[in-house]
Amino acid sequence: MKFVILLFFAEFVSLSDAHLNGPSVNCFNDYKTTMICDFTSDKPLNCGGYSLDFVSELQEHFTCVFVNRERDSNHLFKCGCTVEMPEFVIADNFNANLLKEGKVLNSRNISAIDKIKPQAPEILSVTQTGDGNFNVTWKTNYSENSVFGKSLKTQLSYKKKGEADEVASGYNCTGTFCIIPGSELEPSSEYVIKARSYSTKYGTEFSDWSNEVEWITSESTERMLKIIIPIFFVLLVINICALYWCCTKLKAKWWDRIPNPSNDIKKILPGNPKVFIPKQYDPSSYHIDFPTISAAEEKSW
Ligand SMILES: *[C@@H]1O[C@H](CO)[C@@H](O)[C@H](O)[C@H]1NC(C)=O
Ligand SMILES: *[C@@H]1O[C@H](CO)[C@@H](O)[C@H](O)[C@H]1NC(C)=O
Ligand SMILES: *[C@@H]1O[C@H](CO)[C@@H](O)[C@H](O)[C@H]1NC(C)=O
Ligand SMILES: *[C@@H]1O[C@H](CO)[C@@H](O)[C@H](O)[C@H]1NC(C)=O
Repeated sequence: MKFVILLFFAEFVSLSDAHLNGPSVNCFNDYKTTMICDFTSDKPLNCGGYSLDFVSELQEHFTCVFVNRERDSNHLFKCGCTVEMPEFVIADNFNANLLKEGKVLNSRNISAIDKIKPQAPEILSVTQTGDGNFNVTWKTNYSENSVFGKSLKTQLSYKKKGEADEVASGYNCTGTFCIIPGSELEPSSEYVIKARSYSTKYGTEFSDWSNEVEWITSESTERMLKIIIPIFFVLLVINICALYWCCTKLKAKWWDRIPNPSNDIKKILPGNPKVFIPKQYDPSSYHIDFPTISAAEEKSW
């Protein structure tokens, strides 16, 4: 009895070994001619000696040799390989055998259409349109006439230069250009944008991110007004002050030339003025129409 259980246990272990031996490999193709595979581990990996042998339905062999890659974003150790094949078609199936030093660790079937990761697009330009929006253009490396090329969408991610990726804004676009409304951007700021392709129709992964393109937004009219209006008021105040200064100068000059009648009378008659005063002299009953300051002012205008 003990022996049977032991035998059963040994067999179970070897069976599961056959299935689980070796790392679990992830493969993606770009729906062109390149298959890229990798596997990761939290322990340091020695990728030398690992390879993946693809066998097509026509019994052609394509060998992908693993090399150490940079640690991924989760800081896992990574082995990766790349292999070129004839152009993929939807119906392509491969039997993939993972080998270590020539020994098969495991094998599985991979269908070309299962796991597609498109090639990254390339951003061509960001230009301001007449209405203050921004036209972003890009190209993918897939024919626009192919079913796959037509199904590709582009995800744009833009942010102010220097900001973290987490705060980036996104846009999903079809075709080869997309309009970002100027109202969503801050004026006179530096922005960076990148793009990646995906196809929901083919259930693809996202491509890698494209090149980043920078652009600077222009001054807004509102901001321009905020700058111009205070300057305008300062100039206006300076003008008013200058004008006032000129007027007082002019008036003083002009006013000084008008003889002062009361002074003149005093000069002409230095003697005792009482002699000439009539008996019932009441100065308030006399109204002499001398030019007043306000009258002079009116004349000068
Ligand atoms: C892969 O598919 C072939 C037939 O298409 C089948 O004979 C084989 O057993 C499959 N291998 C695996 C590991 O599923
Ligand atoms: C954006 O640019 C593309 C390529 O130059 C052009 O075909 C498209 O008409 C432009 N779109 C707008 C709204 O200006
Ligand atoms: C575009 O695809 C071709 C294969 O069809 C490839 O040789 C070329 O390197 C690709 N270009 C870019 C920029 O990925
Ligand atoms: C764009 O599409 C992707 C995938 O369907 C989705 O995860 C993302 O939230 C979308 N982004 C926007 C801004 O709609």
